[in-house]
Amino acid sequence: MLESDLIEKLHDCQKVVVFTGAGISAESGIPTFRDAQTGLWSKFNPQDVASTEAFRKNPQLVWDWYVHRAEFVRNAEPNSGHKAVSTLQACVADLSVITQNIDNLHQRAGTRNVLELHGSLFRLKAFVDTDELFAGDTSPIICHICDGYAIFDECDPYASKEDLSAIELRAGPVPRCPGCGALLRPDIVWFGEPLDIDILDSATRLADSCDLLICIGSSLEVQPAASIPVRAKCAGATIIEINPEPTSLSSHADVFLQGKAAEILPAFVNMVWNNGETSC
Ligand code: OAD
Repeated sequence: MLESDLIEKLHDCQKVVVFTGAGISAESGIPTFRDAQTGLWSKFNPQDVASTEAFRKNPQLVWDWYVHRAEFVRNAEPNSGHKAVSTLQACVADLSVITQNIDNLHQRAGTRNVLELHGSLFRLKAFVDTDELFAGDTSPIICHICDGYAIFDECDPYASKEDLSAIELRAGPVPRCPGCGALLRPDIVWFGEPLDIDILDSATRLADSCDLLICIGSSLEVQPAASIPVRAKCAGATIIEINPEPTSLSSHADVFLQGKAAEILPAFVNMVWNNGETSC
């Protein structure tokens, strides 16, 4: 699969970034977004289920859609691709994952240092409709429970952060913040929304300073996430890409390994870091 010089170079890399998209979870049974036939966006219009406008128009519809996805993901298991990332983390001095996935499967496979660029299905936050809030005559404050904007008179001083963290993405009416009564929504980046600036900043720094970036299972069609592997390339990192289909990165990668992550990644990790032995 790889030349011995390259194996040696990869083995010496100290700072590794694994950049992942929906493809790494495909073999856990979680649909990707853009694959023809099976991709989520071939069945749903993202504007109808994953946008501020959709939630404003019909919060229950959007909530129910994410409840369904969360149930699906809770029943899925990390596959051998996720596990190989975790194995690799034990082999190199410094490995971080930058993922576009919201499914928590890297963490469930035992991987640490995971930056979730697009949020998580397993955290909630307040839906803040600033247009509506700032249109009234009362000045909004920051809610002491959900950190979203709230109206002072509507806040419950006895509510605690634990009351909020006890609420999950489960079937039922859309829950409200126990502190201020704002509707709660999944902490996911919706269409048209900016990424969390601190997370994006951390991801950019990692891209600028890594020796090796392994890009797995992303179509690289969504910005600014798609710029991360390109930044790493421009900063001089070695780039490996794993995907059944070529992407805009493939011709710029040092190696493009064509195939499924769950099959290719364990073999790749074993070849570079284990030399066929059982431990690295
Ligand atoms: P996409 O659905 O756009 O791309 C999935 C990629 O995974 C494609 O390039 C496939 O060829 C590849 N793939 C499919 N099966 C694979 C397998 N078994 N092993 C490896 N790769 C495989 O998903 P993303 O690039 O993750 O954003 O999409 C980026 C963002 O677009 C998502 O985070 C989501 C979506 O809109 C938000 O929801 C904000």
